[in-house]
Amino acid sequence: MGSHLSDVWFQVTDLQVTSGKGSWVTTSDGAEYLDFSSGIAVTSTGHCHPKVVAAIQEQATKFIHAQVNCYRHPLLDALADRLAEITPDGIDRFFFANSGAEATEGAVKLAKQTTGRPNTIVFQGSFHGRTHQTMAMTTSKTSYRAGYAPLPAGVFVAPFPADAAQSEWCLDQVRFLLKSQTAPSETAAIVIEPELGEGGYLPAPVPFLRGLEAICREHGIVFIADEVQTGFGRTGRMFAVEHYAVRPDVLVMAKGLGSGFPISAIGASDDLMARWPKGSHGGTYGGNPIGCAAALATIDVLTEPGFLDNVNDRGRQLQSGLVELAREDGGIVDVRGWGLMIGSQFDDPARVAAVQAHCLEEGHVILMNAGTNNDVLRWMPPLVVTEAEIATALAAFGAALKSTS
Ligand SMILES: Cc1ncc(COP(=O)(O)O)c(C=O)c1O
Repeated sequence: MGSHLSDVWFQVTDLQVTSGKGSWVTTSDGAEYLDFSSGIAVTSTGHCHPKVVAAIQEQATKFIHAQVNCYRHPLLDALADRLAEITPDGIDRFFFANSGAEATEGAVKLAKQTTGRPNTIVFQGSFHGRTHQTMAMTTSKTSYRAGYAPLPAGVFVAPFPADAAQSEWCLDQVRFLLKSQTAPSETAAIVIEPELGEGGYLPAPVPFLRGLEAICREHGIVFIADEVQTGFGRTGRMFAVEHYAVRPDVLVMAKGLGSGFPISAIGASDDLMARWPKGSHGGTYGGNPIGCAAALATIDVLTEPGFLDNVNDRGRQLQSGLVELAREDGGIVDVRGWGLMIGSQFDDPARVAAVQAHCLEEGHVILMNAGTNNDVLRWMPPLVVTEAEIATALAAFGAALKSTS
């Protein structure tokens, strides 16, 4: 009998999983796989962290849904307070939603309302989501947009620097856009992922992000950091912007925030949030109590002493292992990234697919690709990954490289 499920989802594997623990998932026939997909960079605390599970279970007995327009529940303020503590200076107030796309689109709505300007600048290779506005802002692959025209107007695309040497040229291109296509008086926001996610795990060079911040300040443009994928410790700092010492006006958060329970957030200054007209944005499920409980427990785990040290140690272990393997393999042209958000770029996308398949079948390691050309293997293990698990994944990768060269 055929499946009643939609076929629209692309599949990374055809595994049927029945449970997960830490960095591992178990399939219906009892096989175990090392999950370096982390459910697309989501399971920050690993699968089913006991503290997150307990918080969800406890909250489920009190309230499953306490709708934020109808009444308030205590975890809303508790989570906003906690986020205010861990987000960069100037991010003080929070709006809650359910997904990354919803939060990114909401951030653009906030910028439009508070500036009275219509347009947004994004960068080549970016991924911001699957809604119409966020599709219009997504340029990492045509497959995310094809067949959906017309997309909302008012989105302008500037180049993303491949390396630090391109920073000044790319900043000039943004300045040129502001002169040639979208005047500052019409530009509400510049939206950037500090490290490109779907676009190939490519960190923005430091001078580039700093230059963008300066352009935003000069013209009163809202500087939005889409930290949906980079946030909550993924890059070895709580937020990737900390590597750059820049201060975004708006911080968009999702994925790692709830360890897998759907919750996202928009953070902004008191001033910006106060100028967002009451009732002009909202949503039925945003601020869901179980989501808030999962997020609070997740943040407790991420802020435990030494947690980020593990991310950085494991990141160094992984990156140096990958560099070592790349030295012996002419097909790998670059290894880069912050913390546990590392990309291995190949000269041939077919090789990426072959390596991925070998890792899955022979090594029982689940990996995903990224990049406009599918030429990047992306490394995004759970942040609780152990030294031994990184070693296992590197061994599987090394064997796959040998068998596919
Ligand atoms: C940087 C970034 N922004 C936004 C999104 C969209 O998030 P969601 O899939 O939760 O809508 C993603 C998802 O991969 C992302 O990586």
